Amino acid sequence: MSIHDDLRLLTCQPGYETLLGGELRAHGLEPDATGPGWVLARGTAPETLCFAHLRLDGATAIEAESVNAMAEQLLALFMEKIRDRILPAGWPLVFRFADGEKGLGQRTRSVEKEFRARLKKRMARLERTAADELPRGSATLQGLFVFAAGFGRLYAATEAWQGGQRRMADDPAAPSRSYLKTEEAFAVCGREPAPGETVVDLGAAPGGWSYSAAKRGAAVVAIDNGPMKGGAKDHPLIRHRREDAFKFQPTVGETYDWLFCDLVEDPHHVMRLLEQWLRGRHCRNFVVNLKFGRADALGLLEKVEARIRPLCATLSVRHLFHDRDEFTLVGETAKA
Ligand SMILES: C[S@@+](CC[C@H](N)C(=O)[O-])C[C@H]1O[C@@H](n2cnc3c(N)ncnc32)[C@H](O)[C@@H]1O
Repeated sequence: MSIHDDLRLLTCQPGYETLLGGELRAHGLEPDATGPGWVLARGTAPETLCFAHLRLDGATAIEAESVNAMAEQLLALFMEKIRDRILPAGWPLVFRFADGEKGLGQRTRSVEKEFRARLKKRMARLERTAADELPRGSATLQGLFVFAAGFGRLYAATEAWQGGQRRMADDPAAPSRSYLKTEEAFAVCGREPAPGETVVDLGAAPGGWSYSAAKRGAAVVAIDNGPMKGGAKDHPLIRHRREDAFKFQPTVGETYDWLFCDLVEDPHHVMRLLEQWLRGRHCRNFVVNLKFGRADALGLLEKVEARIRPLCATLSVRHLFHDRDEFTLVGETAKA
């Protein structure tokens, strides 16, 4: 077992390790090692990172051949780390594993089962009050967080930060998979459109995001030349306007409760559009997806920090579980 207080294991969507590594470098952290869906780094991490989903702080590497030996070492580490602490009921006891290695999921579940059996023997009440799910939203957490990087190696920590990304449940009436992105964005920021609120949805078709707002009782103006489909078609709370999103102008003094924007357009143009909406205070909250495709994603993140963050009261920038070559901004406009 090797203990380094500044060792951090960060998880990301498999295939995005290079971008997460680049983001860490931009904050002065040099990745030590990387694998499918994870990056290991040493040093002081920034509070939040776009491409990170879960960050294990003060991670300890445990190496062992057998499941039992791993569970045994894990228990020893856990007891040591929580010695002077009280974990609240519902404390997260979470096991994750690297993508792509056949059988690693099964192996990790076996380590979890053996660990829980040992913990139950030693501290039955503590074991009973553990939750095997992470809570919703973005937060700093106390519990036990385990990540299996391979058959013989796992990392464990009792402190973690989570970005709030998670797989969302589909709705058969939602007209597109994009629907899942906005549902996930609401879960990240812990806010969502309320009945009677107003939403403008730029690049709305076929209507997943509009449907997501309308099913909560919000009134939506959906801007797109393409057709609305499924549950968004002819929805009484969705008014579809076939217009160019870049030309659509709110009337003077008009403020929507929410701006949604999922345009397949150059992300720099979309960012300028968001800037105009924020400067004009035409929206109170926003969910905006920037599709970086072949553009420089890290350069784009820097521009978001320089140009968008100063105009916001709150801003979360996340590579969502349901995002591909894109990331999503969720925030509130700064007050005057
Ligand atoms: C990824 S789709 C949006 C999906 C939508 N959020 C959903 O949940 O179903 C992107 C949309 O942007 C629209 N779009 C691209 N450029 C546009 C523009 N200048 N004005 C309006 N819509 C535009 C496209 O027609 C397309 O329907």
